[in-house]
Amino acid sequence: MVLAKKFGLLGLVTAFSSAQQLRSDPGVAGPPLEVVHLYNDQWPTGVTVSKDGRKFSNYPPGLDANNTNDGSNGKYTVAELIGNNTERPYPSAQINNPPGGSINYSTSPASGANYPNYLIGVQSVVLDPLDPLDRLWILDTGRALTQNSTLVPASPGGPKLLCVSLSTDSVIQTIVFPPMVAYPDSYLNDIRFDLRPENTASGGGVAYITDSSSEGRNGIIVVDLGAGVSWRHLNGITEVRAERSFVPYVWGTPLYYIPGSGLPLTTVPLGSDGIPISADGNELFWGPVGGRYLYSIPTERLRHQSLNSELLAQAAVQNRGQRGVSDGFETDTNGFIYAGNMEQNGISFYNPANASTTLFVRDPRINWVDTMSVGSDGYLYFTVNQLCFTPGFYPGTDRRERPFVLFRAKLPGNGTRVSLQ
Ligand SMILES: *[C@@H]1O[C@H](CO)[C@@H](O)[C@H](O)[C@H]1NC(C)=O
Ligand SMILES: *[C@@H]1O[C@H](CO)[C@@H](O)[C@H](O)[C@H]1NC(C)=O
Ligand SMILES: *[C@@H]1O[C@H](CO)[C@@H](O)[C@H](O)[C@H]1NC(C)=O
Ligand SMILES: *[C@@H]1O[C@H](CO)[C@@H](O)[C@H](O)[C@H]1NC(C)=O
Ligand SMILES: *[C@@H]1O[C@H](CO)[C@@H](O)[C@H](O)[C@H]1NC(C)=O
Ligand SMILES: *[C@@H]1O[C@H](CO)[C@@H](O)[C@H](O)[C@H]1NC(C)=O
Repeated sequence: MVLAKKFGLLGLVTAFSSAQQLRSDPGVAGPPLEVVHLYNDQWPTGVTVSKDGRKFSNYPPGLDANNTNDGSNGKYTVAELIGNNTERPYPSAQINNPPGGSINYSTSPASGANYPNYLIGVQSVVLDPLDPLDRLWILDTGRALTQNSTLVPASPGGPKLLCVSLSTDSVIQTIVFPPMVAYPDSYLNDIRFDLRPENTASGGGVAYITDSSSEGRNGIIVVDLGAGVSWRHLNGITEVRAERSFVPYVWGTPLYYIPGSGLPLTTVPLGSDGIPISADGNELFWGPVGGRYLYSIPTERLRHQSLNSELLAQAAVQNRGQRGVSDGFETDTNGFIYAGNMEQNGISFYNPANASTTLFVRDPRINWVDTMSVGSDGYLYFTVNQLCFTPGFYPGTDRRERPFVLFRAKLPGNGTRVSLQ
């Protein structure tokens, strides 16, 4: 009655007709996504792309029990992507095969194997900016899942950083983290480099690492690459931890976490994870997976180890506002900080120059954007790996479908890889 009075009979007919097109979400924005590699074998997280286009991924046994090497199943935790959607254990099959496997069952409880010269559970592979030599750094958490999906604690020797020369495909440096830097329940997640010699007495450059531990041992680890020495800052502060009661959505599904077989559900407990460094090297950013905020700190505050260095570091942390839900992050020569925006099937970037985020790409094929790598070819490479559909999230069944994907998209404003050396 009301409608008929307001619009007359013709208006009423039109209002209820299905002839008109209703607006709907286009679902796609930004430059087109190009498929670079399809993963049909093991489940990947990280990717990194060298100056001449070689590509490497890692396959963490700490997040997928099917990536765990048992000493005879030939599972690898690092591989080179060699074309035709195939992969080869890297730098060798041998270093990916610890004798007896990644887990030491002779301890109680079972623990990560203690080999400094074998890969146990790699969560990140990242090339540093050194030129012309290309160096791949392999970040080993030293942890793996048992077949019943129990994440074993690390043993000293397991958590480490290996440097591989791409010209010889061999390990040229090993930095083992002491147990007071990488705790047994730490989860060394991601790493970024600043090789400018003036930052340290050793002149060998600095690496910054996130501890994303689902057990809550979060913080930022700093490594003096020249001296091989490491230390922690921002231990357990609110900004490195997951937020209580945080519930992200991906593809319309709320994500609740299963902390272990038969244990009660929690909200996503994953702390400081992605870790981009500003294009000038002077600010380090990070974000917990269990939260939507982006945080930063001047890198100088992290490098200091004086008596007051931790108080000064905590006082210097900045909240940069909400970024969306993301895992890995990257930086380009525009100074933009790229971060997944998984609740929007997309990737956004934060521009420090105007303190705001902007949409970069959207695509319905995007679910969990795990890791990004800016290539020297001016593209953003990123893995989309369905992590949100693994058995670690409610309802606890494996809802992933192969293949997992490596995409790339052209960066805005002719952006390319940053070189801090
Ligand atoms: C391991 O792979 C099998 C077969 O694809 C699958 O059923 C199982 O859920 C996987 N386990 C984990 C922990 O991902
Ligand atoms: C990819 O497959 C094609 C056709 O089978 C073959 O000619 C080529 O050598 C393969 N490339 C690599 C890198 O394996
Ligand atoms: C396994 O644990 C035992 C007992 O602590 C230790 O002696 C041995 O070196 C460990 N082996 C590996 C590969 O971690
Ligand atoms: C899982 O396996 C580990 C190592 O074999 C064992 O210690 C633990 O009790 C098992 N947990 C469950 C819930 O079955
Ligand atoms: C911030 O900067 C980016 C990059 O120039 C721009 O696309 C975006 O519109 C700016 N956002 C705001 C809110 O000014
Ligand atoms: C990007 O590079 C092209 C080719 O050199 C140039 O024409 C264009 O103006 C550049 N765009 C920006 C935003 O700098």
